[in-house]
Amino acid sequence: MTTQFVADTLFDQLKSKILQRQARIAIIGMGYVGLPLALLYSEQKFKVTGFDIDARKVDTLSKGGSYIYRIPAEEIQAAKAQGFSATSDYSQLTAMDAIIICVPTPLNEYHEPDMSYITGTTHSIAPHLRAGQLVVLESTTYPGTTEEVMIPILEEENKAGLKAARNEASASNEFFVAFSPEREDPGNTTVARSDIPKVVGGLNSRASELACVLYGSIFHRTVPVTSPAAAEMTKLLENIYRCVNIALVNELKLLCLRMGIDIWEVIGAAATKPFGFHPFYPGPGLGGHCIPVDPFYLSWKAKEVDFRTRFIELAGEINTNMPYHVLASVTGALNRHKKALNGARVLVLGVAYKKDIDDLRESPSLTIIELLQKDGAQVSYHDPYFPFIGKGRKYDLQLTCAELSDLGRYDCVVIVTDHSDYDYAQIVREAQLVVDTRNATRGIASSKIVHC
Ligand SMILES: NC(=O)c1ccc[n+]([C@@H]2O[C@H](COP(=O)([O-])OP(=O)(O)OC[C@H]3O[C@@H](n4cnc5c(N)ncnc54)[C@H](O)[C@@H]3O)[C@@H](O)[C@H]2O)c1
Repeated sequence: MTTQFVADTLFDQLKSKILQRQARIAIIGMGYVGLPLALLYSEQKFKVTGFDIDARKVDTLSKGGSYIYRIPAEEIQAAKAQGFSATSDYSQLTAMDAIIICVPTPLNEYHEPDMSYITGTTHSIAPHLRAGQLVVLESTTYPGTTEEVMIPILEEENKAGLKAARNEASASNEFFVAFSPEREDPGNTTVARSDIPKVVGGLNSRASELACVLYGSIFHRTVPVTSPAAAEMTKLLENIYRCVNIALVNELKLLCLRMGIDIWEVIGAAATKPFGFHPFYPGPGLGGHCIPVDPFYLSWKAKEVDFRTRFIELAGEINTNMPYHVLASVTGALNRHKKALNGARVLVLGVAYKKDIDDLRESPSLTIIELLQKDGAQVSYHDPYFPFIGKGRKYDLQLTCAELSDLGRYDCVVIVTDHSDYDYAQIVREAQLVVDTRNATRGIASSKIVHC
């Protein structure tokens, strides 16, 4: 067999294996992104292996269980019947045809990109890489990561002298690489996951084509762009757009509060404009793994080319200040009731970073609880999704969820996350004082409510 023939066969073989649902898919990182993705491929009759370094997750999945609230165990069991398995054994990667990486990309203590999960994963993949495999990075990161961080490790540390396919001419020792950002919106039930177009940036056109075919099996539309960096930047643009616009309404909310104007009424009215306006809503601060974090991946990278991303910095400043605004509002509200925050009993209602989800990452409620405690408040919390809040990367609260009854025993109830299950009319009826950071009490007339 000639080298050219082998090379062409590598591309063609993988493409036809994917089209025939014969390709074996590895998904690395069985978290909020990787696990649902594994289930989507499983539903489409692919044999999927989930890799994770967290032994508890591997164990739970292996037993047919789930650790994500909105994924019932039955879905894991259905996937297992389809051939899904979970492991931490990277040597199984050699048997895979496509490897999709969905590991975390947080910020470190200096607010800089923590690339250790991406580099750690890539170091683990490299020794098991074989010719003709497709490797796709999905983790949100700065432009250049795929080409500057991931590919050099894969090329240097694989055992067979393999190279990432860069040229259009095929080679027998190549593997394919692409970046494709995740666009999931947890808790959003208005758009089916498969209806969210999937952006794909391959290192060359064949890598793009393979990645488009791979994602085309579970998404209705793929959107190829010309490079991994363009795909990486696309994701950051989307998140920076949200971050900056949320900062804008947060700042305008502070102004409106001072001017006695209801910002929610204003946004609602502006949103009736059928063009040129998209509504964003103020809140107690940014939360989640993406919006408070991702923009800083770009501002960090921008410094490399002597560039300051001023919108990102300003938005970060305004959004980071929102929990302090909540603290000031609670203090002021108690003061008007002739009470001090020091010693006051405060119930924080909702701790998830947004309504109706079980995700606590970067949630502003954590900062708000810490700030209230620091000023001497006796803080309790309630959230149907979290029976206990222990220790995280940046907090150590050790609090148990309070009963949602007898709310009159608290000096103040602070609505931080507006879960749909709450009966806000009853909460206002029972509470002595309600500080509402989400406009959850809209339509309820009561002098107990303080909008913040
Ligand atoms: N959660 C979202 O809604 C969302 C949306 C869009 C993009 N993203 C991005 O997707 C990426 C993953 O986010 P997530 O929410 O799924 O994170 P997550 O923390 O829920 O899951 C990541 C998983 O990766 C595992 N992991 C870490 N290092 C590993 C390694 N070396 N090998 C194998 N597994 C490893 C962790 O144990 C964890 O289970 C991040 O870059 C995030 O910014 C997330």
